[in-house]
Amino acid sequence: MEHLIEQLRHEQDLPDESLIQLIERDGDDTVLFQHADQVRREHYGTDVFLRGLIEFTNVCQNDCYYCGIRKSNHHTDRYRLTPEQILTCCENGYEMGFRTFVLQGGEDPRNTDEAICSIVDQIKNRFPDCAVTLSIGEKPRSSYQAYYDAGADRYLLRHETATDAHYRKLHPAELSLANRKRCLFDLKEIGYQVGAGFMVGSPGQTAKELVTDLRFLQQLQPDMIGIGPFIPHHETPFAQEKQGTLELTLRMLSILRLMFPYVLLPATTALGTISPIGRELGLKAGANVMMPNLTPNDARKNYDLYDNKICMDENAAKCRLCQEGRVRSVGCQIVSDRGDVRR
Ligand code: SAM
Ligand code: FES
Repeated sequence: MEHLIEQLRHEQDLPDESLIQLIERDGDDTVLFQHADQVRREHYGTDVFLRGLIEFTNVCQNDCYYCGIRKSNHHTDRYRLTPEQILTCCENGYEMGFRTFVLQGGEDPRNTDEAICSIVDQIKNRFPDCAVTLSIGEKPRSSYQAYYDAGADRYLLRHETATDAHYRKLHPAELSLANRKRCLFDLKEIGYQVGAGFMVGSPGQTAKELVTDLRFLQQLQPDMIGIGPFIPHHETPFAQEKQGTLELTLRMLSILRLMFPYVLLPATTALGTISPIGRELGLKAGANVMMPNLTPNDARKNYDLYDNKICMDENAAKCRLCQEGRVRSVGCQIVSDRGDVRR
């Protein structure tokens, strides 16, 4: 197996069968992690970038089968942060050293293009040295263009799975992989720094689907790749499904680092949810981004994408400090800048 890891590191690619072998293997991943760690160091040293996450609405018109804030979940209290509340989150975050703000939310029909452009414009005016990332789902190209013209720098839209049949298993009929891909290519063409990604261990996923994800990412060449384990939410159709494993998520992080040496790779909240040291292990496996939560406490409790999500009772300052300690514990350090991709 070690020769496959060496080959992946040097060629940044392997035939499908070898990738499947690597993904399905049953054994110790220490060597894989070490290679991924070295590649991350070659590109980013021991720098870890922070993104301040602002979960600004949990209202969603979509009904993705895996997601706790899907429209059919009538047991969630829905909220929307006002523009003033969002700006206060940014102010607090700026004081704590954040230079990137990620506005994430459900596909809330009240978020008109004007509303999004206005908040982006206000943040960029108030904090010109900060990057603004949007993560608000599928939109027409004209909307993406308008947000970009208003100053948005980056966009996160996980493709979720690049296999058509699997996409249909995870989403209702009105959502399609073709449109998801269309969005991602539009975003790239417009000039955004783009993040794609997928859940590890989502229902119906095998190594074959994961290889198709890797192939799609090779085609898209995103700046950021967000992956985390699938975790069931008790009020969704996938309530009884098994969660994704720590082992496979870490293995996929390392494979991604070797295939996309330059990429920004977060150690996600979902990884921290399935293991108390999940994010630290993620950093050791090649991740280089952390996303502490800046959402006010009363709101964040209701952004419950999956069960047992961590940090629901913490505040922004506590998350910032907590993550700093975690980053230091693995011999890395947080840098206070925008954290642009280093291609
Ligand atoms: N609405 C936007 C979108 O669709 O991109 C952003 C919000 S969406 C809730 C953010 C991400 O949460 C999704 O891309 C999905 O991968 C992840 N997610 C949702 N439900 C999850 C679950 N049960 N387990 C793990 N991740 C989940
Ligand atoms: Fe929120 Fe650790 S990151 S408490």
